[in-house]
Amino acid sequence: MKIGIFDSGIGGVTVLHEAMKRLPNEEYIFYADLDHVPYGVKTPEEVIGFVDNIVADLVGRGVDAIVIACNTATSVAAEYVRIKYDIPIIGMEPAVKPAVEASNSRVLVMATPITIRENKLQNLLKKVDKDHIVDLLPMPGLVRLAEAGIFEGPEVDEYLTEQMAVINKDDYDQVVLGCTHFTYFKSAISKFFGGKVGLVDGNRGTVKHLAELLGLELFDGDLSHDMIYNVTYVESGRNVTAEAALAKYAGLHARLDQE
Ligand code: DGL
Repeated sequence: MKIGIFDSGIGGVTVLHEAMKRLPNEEYIFYADLDHVPYGVKTPEEVIGFVDNIVADLVGRGVDAIVIACNTATSVAAEYVRIKYDIPIIGMEPAVKPAVEASNSRVLVMATPITIRENKLQNLLKKVDKDHIVDLLPMPGLVRLAEAGIFEGPEVDEYLTEQMAVINKDDYDQVVLGCTHFTYFKSAISKFFGGKVGLVDGNRGTVKHLAELLGLELFDGDLSHDMIYNVTYVESGRNVTAEAALAKYAGLHARLDQE
């Protein structure tokens, strides 16, 4: 099957990576909306417009299903495109439920400002945070750092320290990575919390959901060089063909294998 996976930027590669490992026999188109990243600080109406264009583009490329590999886009635009297009569309939401279940103290959800403000997350919290142990923290700066290829080092550490000045890090034993870009910062975030928290992302659950929806069997494998270069990478509607740009995506896959 031909599967389209999209995000505002490179965050979605973390979902693509998981999908390629677990569903290695499918064909993938990965779409990053680099002309409009970051989504998380834009208006919901703007994001709906971007997502509408991307879904139309992917449908035009003949995909059988689409994964919105972006919590922000899902929270404001998933319903809109599901009604408009006659194709299976899977969204993502912060993996709050497994984090709450695993926690013995408090849970911190990091996400973009839109995801934190929108009803979708608030409704999820009403369902799964019965004991009010979840706190929310916007971390928009991590998206910018990820797009600049900065995943660790003093700039990341300073940003984490600055943003987390409003919380007491010892209160938490689970941290939800509620934005796909944040997966690249697992090491830096874990280091910030002194290695004492569980980091929960929604990537595995999303791919499981995709497999169930399409009736596909899940595997547990590694990515080969050939698989990485067999993906069609698209940036805001333009196919990526330049060697250097393709190497950037290969580098991201390699990095995710280390995280
Ligand atoms: N990667 C996206 C998410 O999962 C959003 C990043 C952005 O463009 O702000 O929320």
